[in-house]
Amino acid sequence: MLEWFAIDLIKQAGEYIRLQIDESYRIERKTGKGDLVTEIDRAVEQLIVDRIRESYPEHHIIGEEGISTEPDDLSGTVWFVDPIDGTLNFIHQKRMFAISIAIMVDGVIEYGFVYDVMADELFVARRGVGTTLNGRKLPIIKEHHVRDAFLSMNATWVTPNQQIAPEVLAPIVRDSVGTRAHGAASLELAWLAAGQVDGYITMRNMPWDYAAGKLLVEEVGGRLVSIYGEPVRYDGKTSVLAGSETFVKDVVKHYVIAKGATPEVKPDLQIGINGS
Ligand code: IPD
Ligand code: CA
Ligand code: CA
Ligand code: CA
Repeated sequence: MLEWFAIDLIKQAGEYIRLQIDESYRIERKTGKGDLVTEIDRAVEQLIVDRIRESYPEHHIIGEEGISTEPDDLSGTVWFVDPIDGTLNFIHQKRMFAISIAIMVDGVIEYGFVYDVMADELFVARRGVGTTLNGRKLPIIKEHHVRDAFLSMNATWVTPNQQIAPEVLAPIVRDSVGTRAHGAASLELAWLAAGQVDGYITMRNMPWDYAAGKLLVEEVGGRLVSIYGEPVRYDGKTSVLAGSETFVKDVVKHYVIAKGATPEVKPDLQIGINGS
Protein backbone atom coordinates (compact mmCIF):
# COMPACT_ATOMS: atom_id res chain seq x y z
CA MET A 1 0.00 0.00 0.00
CA LEU A 2 1.18 3.49 -0.93
CA GLU A 3 1.32 4.80 2.64
CA TRP A 4 3.54 1.98 3.92
CA PHE A 5 5.72 2.18 0.84
CA ALA A 6 6.28 5.90 1.42
CA ILE A 7 6.98 5.41 5.15
CA ASP A 8 9.52 2.70 4.41
CA LEU A 9 11.11 4.89 1.73
CA ILE A 10 11.37 8.03 3.89
CA LYS A 11 12.87 6.03 6.78
CA GLN A 12 15.43 4.43 4.46
CA ALA A 13 16.36 7.87 3.13
CA GLY A 14 16.65 9.18 6.69
CA GLU A 15 18.95 6.33 7.67
CA TYR A 16 21.14 7.14 4.67
CA ILE A 17 21.40 10.81 5.75
CA ARG A 18 22.30 9.84 9.34
CA LEU A 19 25.11 7.65 7.99
CA GLN A 20 26.47 10.44 5.75
CA ILE A 21 26.06 13.49 7.98
CA ASP A 22 29.53 13.32 9.58
CA GLU A 23 31.32 12.32 6.36
CA SER A 24 32.77 14.88 3.95
CA TYR A 25 30.58 15.77 1.00
CA ARG A 26 30.60 18.26 -1.88
CA ILE A 27 28.65 21.50 -1.46
CA GLU A 28 27.67 23.68 -4.41
CA ARG A 29 26.06 27.09 -4.68
CA LYS A 30 22.83 27.35 -6.61
CA THR A 31 21.71 30.99 -6.80
CA GLY A 32 23.86 32.42 -3.98
CA LYS A 33 25.74 31.76 -0.76
CA GLY A 34 22.53 30.98 1.14
CA ASP A 35 21.17 28.68 -1.53
CA LEU A 36 23.26 25.52 -1.40
CA VAL A 37 22.96 21.94 -2.51
CA THR A 38 25.11 19.07 -1.26
CA GLU A 39 25.79 15.77 -2.91
CA ILE A 40 23.72 14.23 -0.10
CA ASP A 41 20.63 16.24 -1.20
CA ARG A 42 21.06 14.85 -4.71
CA ALA A 43 21.81 11.29 -3.58
CA VAL A 44 18.72 11.23 -1.35
CA GLU A 45 16.48 12.51 -4.14
CA GLN A 46 18.02 9.90 -6.49
CA LEU A 47 17.31 7.13 -3.97
CA ILE A 48 13.70 8.26 -3.58
CA VAL A 49 13.15 8.67 -7.33
CA ASP A 50 14.68 5.25 -8.12
CA ARG A 51 12.46 3.45 -5.65
CA ILE A 52 9.28 5.21 -6.82
CA ARG A 53 10.12 4.51 -10.47
CA GLU A 54 10.79 0.86 -9.68
CA SER A 55 7.49 0.30 -7.86
CA TYR A 56 5.24 2.89 -9.53
CA PRO A 57 6.60 3.60 -13.04
CA GLU A 58 3.42 5.45 -14.04
CA HIS A 59 3.74 8.04 -11.23
CA HIS A 60 5.30 11.48 -11.75
CA ILE A 61 7.86 13.08 -9.44
CA ILE A 62 8.57 16.76 -8.82
CA GLY A 63 11.71 17.05 -6.72
CA GLU A 64 13.67 20.12 -5.69
CA GLU A 65 16.93 18.91 -7.18
CA GLY A 66 15.33 18.04 -10.52
CA ILE A 67 16.45 14.39 -10.68
CA SER A 68 13.20 13.40 -12.36
CA THR A 69 11.66 15.08 -15.43
CA GLU A 70 8.77 17.23 -14.30
CA PRO A 71 5.29 16.41 -15.68
CA ASP A 72 3.43 18.83 -17.96
CA ASP A 73 0.46 18.96 -15.62
CA LEU A 74 -0.69 17.64 -12.24
CA SER A 75 -2.99 14.86 -13.46
CA GLY A 76 -2.50 11.29 -12.26
CA THR A 77 -0.29 10.61 -9.24
CA VAL A 78 2.41 13.19 -8.53
CA TRP A 79 5.00 12.98 -5.77
CA PHE A 80 6.46 16.22 -4.39
CA VAL A 81 9.88 15.50 -2.92
CA ASP A 82 12.23 17.69 -0.91
CA PRO A 83 15.14 15.36 -0.10
CA ILE A 84 16.57 17.67 2.55
CA ASP A 85 14.37 20.56 3.61
CA GLY A 86 16.64 22.87 5.55
CA THR A 87 19.93 22.25 3.76
CA LEU A 88 21.63 25.11 5.66
CA ASN A 89 20.60 23.51 8.96
CA PHE A 90 21.85 20.15 7.69
CA ILE A 91 25.27 21.65 6.85
CA HIS A 92 25.72 23.98 9.83
CA GLN A 93 23.67 22.53 12.66
CA LYS A 94 23.43 18.88 11.72
CA ARG A 95 19.86 18.90 12.99
CA MET A 96 16.47 20.58 12.36
CA PHE A 97 16.07 19.43 8.76
CA ALA A 98 13.55 17.05 7.26
CA ILE A 99 12.66 14.91 4.30
CA SER A 100 9.34 16.10 2.93
CA ILE A 101 7.17 13.99 0.63
CA ALA A 102 3.60 14.61 -0.52
CA ILE A 103 1.48 12.44 -2.81
CA MET A 104 -1.06 14.24 -4.97
CA VAL A 105 -3.73 12.38 -6.93
CA ASP A 106 -5.49 14.31 -9.71
CA GLY A 107 -4.65 17.66 -8.14
CA VAL A 108 -5.51 16.76 -4.53
CA ILE A 109 -2.87 16.04 -1.87
CA GLU A 110 -3.80 12.64 -0.40
CA TYR A 111 -0.76 11.96 1.81
CA GLY A 112 1.87 14.10 3.53
CA PHE A 113 5.07 12.81 5.16
CA VAL A 114 7.60 14.94 7.02
CA TYR A 115 10.50 13.14 8.65
CA ASP A 116 12.67 14.99 11.18
CA VAL A 117 15.71 12.85 10.51
CA MET A 118 17.86 13.55 13.57
CA ALA A 119 14.96 13.57 16.05
CA ASP A 120 13.52 10.43 14.41
CA GLU A 121 10.07 12.04 14.37
CA LEU A 122 7.82 11.03 11.50
CA PHE A 123 4.70 13.07 10.81
CA VAL A 124 2.14 11.43 8.53
CA ALA A 125 -1.13 12.88 7.26
CA ARG A 126 -3.77 11.12 5.25
CA ARG A 127 -6.56 13.24 3.80
CA GLY A 128 -9.77 12.84 5.80
CA VAL A 129 -8.12 10.58 8.37
CA GLY A 130 -5.82 12.84 10.42
CA THR A 131 -2.21 13.50 11.27
CA THR A 132 0.04 11.30 13.35
CA LEU A 133 3.44 11.78 14.97
CA ASN A 134 5.31 8.48 15.27
CA GLY A 135 1.95 6.72 15.03
CA ARG A 136 0.20 8.81 17.69
CA LYS A 137 -2.79 10.82 16.45
CA LEU A 138 -2.41 14.56 16.91
CA PRO A 139 -5.35 16.52 18.35
CA ILE A 140 -7.08 19.43 16.59
CA ILE A 141 -4.98 22.58 17.07
CA LYS A 142 -6.12 25.42 19.35
CA GLU A 143 -7.50 28.64 17.88
CA HIS A 144 -5.18 31.64 18.28
CA HIS A 145 -5.24 35.31 17.43
CA VAL A 146 -1.97 37.04 16.56
CA ARG A 147 -1.88 38.53 20.06
CA ASP A 148 -1.59 35.10 21.72
CA ALA A 149 0.36 33.26 19.02
CA PHE A 150 3.95 31.96 19.15
CA LEU A 151 5.15 32.14 15.57
CA SER A 152 7.59 30.60 13.19
CA MET A 153 8.42 33.28 10.63
CA ASN A 154 11.09 33.21 7.98
CA ALA A 155 13.33 36.23 8.60
CA THR A 156 13.29 37.32 4.95
CA TRP A 157 10.11 39.27 5.77
CA VAL A 158 12.37 42.11 7.01
CA THR A 159 14.08 42.44 3.63
CA PRO A 160 12.46 43.86 0.54
CA ASN A 161 10.65 40.95 -1.07
CA GLN A 162 8.30 40.38 -3.96
CA GLN A 163 5.31 39.57 -1.82
CA ILE A 164 4.60 42.23 0.76
CA ALA A 165 6.19 45.31 2.34
CA PRO A 166 8.05 44.69 5.64
CA GLU A 167 5.94 47.47 7.27
CA VAL A 168 2.83 45.32 6.79
CA LEU A 169 4.32 42.40 8.67
CA ALA A 170 6.17 44.27 11.44
CA PRO A 171 2.98 44.72 13.56
CA ILE A 172 2.47 40.93 13.52
CA VAL A 173 5.93 40.50 15.03
CA ARG A 174 5.22 43.27 17.56
CA ASP A 175 1.79 41.94 18.60
CA SER A 176 2.60 38.22 18.78
CA VAL A 177 3.96 36.35 21.80
CA GLY A 178 7.28 35.80 20.00
CA THR A 179 8.77 34.76 16.69
CA ARG A 180 11.37 32.21 15.64
CA ALA A 181 12.97 31.44 12.27
CA HIS A 182 13.69 27.71 12.24
CA GLY A 183 14.85 27.35 8.62
CA ALA A 184 12.95 24.27 7.47
CA ALA A 185 9.46 24.99 6.14
CA SER A 186 8.14 21.44 6.26
CA LEU A 187 9.23 21.00 9.88
CA GLU A 188 7.79 24.35 10.91
CA LEU A 189 4.46 23.21 9.46
CA ALA A 190 4.79 19.85 11.22
CA TRP A 191 5.42 21.64 14.53
CA LEU A 192 2.37 23.78 13.84
CA ALA A 193 0.33 20.58 13.39
CA ALA A 194 1.74 19.33 16.70
CA GLY A 195 0.80 22.57 18.52
CA GLN A 196 4.43 23.57 19.15
CA VAL A 197 4.04 26.82 17.21
CA ASP A 198 0.78 28.62 16.49
CA GLY A 199 1.51 30.03 13.05
CA TYR A 200 3.97 29.95 10.15
CA ILE A 201 4.64 32.79 7.75
CA THR A 202 7.13 32.92 4.91
CA MET A 203 7.53 35.06 1.84
CA ARG A 204 8.77 32.39 -0.50
CA ASN A 205 8.20 28.65 -0.59
CA MET A 206 8.07 26.12 -3.39
CA PRO A 207 5.48 23.30 -3.54
CA TRP A 208 7.96 20.68 -2.26
CA ASP A 209 8.47 22.87 0.84
CA TYR A 210 4.82 22.99 1.89
CA ALA A 211 2.80 20.32 0.03
CA ALA A 212 3.22 17.69 2.77
CA GLY A 213 3.06 20.20 5.64
CA LYS A 214 -0.15 21.69 4.29
CA LEU A 215 -1.97 18.38 4.70
CA LEU A 216 -0.43 17.84 8.16
CA VAL A 217 -1.86 21.22 9.21
CA GLU A 218 -5.26 20.82 7.53
CA GLU A 219 -5.82 17.40 9.08
CA VAL A 220 -5.63 18.95 12.57
CA GLY A 221 -8.12 21.69 11.63
CA GLY A 222 -5.65 24.34 10.43
CA ARG A 223 -5.33 26.24 7.18
CA LEU A 224 -2.53 27.09 4.76
CA VAL A 225 -2.96 29.89 2.21
CA SER A 226 -0.91 32.72 0.70
CA ILE A 227 -0.26 35.83 2.81
CA TYR A 228 -3.28 37.34 1.01
CA GLY A 229 -5.53 34.45 2.03
CA GLU A 230 -5.59 32.90 -1.45
CA PRO A 231 -5.15 29.20 -2.23
CA VAL A 232 -1.48 28.37 -2.75
CA ARG A 233 -0.21 27.31 -6.15
CA TYR A 234 1.60 24.10 -7.06
CA ASP A 235 3.30 25.45 -10.17
CA GLY A 236 5.71 27.99 -8.73
CA LYS A 237 6.73 29.95 -5.66
CA THR A 238 4.31 31.50 -3.21
CA SER A 239 4.10 33.17 0.16
CA VAL A 240 2.68 30.93 2.88
CA LEU A 241 0.49 31.78 5.86
CA ALA A 242 -0.54 28.85 8.05
CA GLY A 243 -2.25 28.41 11.39
CA SER A 244 -5.66 27.96 12.92
CA GLU A 245 -8.67 29.40 11.09
CA THR A 246 -8.78 32.26 13.61
CA PHE A 247 -5.08 33.08 13.18
CA VAL A 248 -5.19 33.05 9.37
CA LYS A 249 -8.30 35.27 9.30
CA ASP A 250 -6.78 37.64 11.86
CA VAL A 251 -3.59 38.07 9.82
CA VAL A 252 -5.36 38.55 6.48
CA LYS A 253 -8.14 40.83 7.74
CA HIS A 254 -6.49 42.90 10.47
CA TYR A 255 -2.91 43.12 9.24
CA VAL A 256 -2.64 42.50 5.49
CA ILE A 257 -5.92 43.84 4.06
CA ALA A 258 -6.21 46.53 6.74
CA LYS A 259 -2.87 47.93 5.53
CA GLY A 260 -4.18 48.01 1.97
CA ALA A 261 -1.59 45.50 0.77
CA THR A 262 -2.37 43.88 -2.56
CA PRO A 263 -0.72 40.96 -4.28
CA GLU A 264 1.94 41.96 -6.75
CA VAL A 265 2.48 39.20 -9.23
CA LYS A 266 5.95 39.72 -10.60
CA PRO A 267 7.10 38.02 -13.82
CA ASP A 268 9.42 35.65 -11.98
CA LEU A 269 6.50 34.24 -10.02
CA GLN A 270 5.34 32.70 -13.27
CA ILE A 271 8.12 30.14 -13.42
CA GLY A 272 7.84 26.44 -14.11
CA ILE A 273 7.73 23.99 -11.27
CA ASN A 274 11.47 23.31 -11.25
CA GLY A 275 12.36 26.97 -11.55
CA SER A 276 13.06 26.74 -15.28
C1 IPD B 1 14.28 26.08 2.34
C2 IPD B 1 13.81 26.00 3.77
C3 IPD B 1 13.64 27.39 4.33
C4 IPD B 1 12.65 28.18 3.51
C5 IPD B 1 13.12 28.25 2.07
C6 IPD B 1 13.32 26.86 1.51
P1 IPD B 1 15.76 24.05 1.37
O1 IPD B 1 14.37 24.78 1.79
O2 IPD B 1 12.59 25.32 3.89
O3 IPD B 1 13.13 27.34 5.63
O4 IPD B 1 12.54 29.45 4.01
O5 IPD B 1 12.14 28.91 1.33
O6 IPD B 1 13.82 26.97 0.20
O7 IPD B 1 16.30 24.82 0.21
O8 IPD B 1 16.64 24.05 2.54
O9 IPD B 1 15.24 22.72 0.97
CA1 CA C 1 17.41 24.18 -1.57
CA1 CA D 1 12.92 23.07 1.00
CA1 CA E 1 15.85 20.93 -0.16
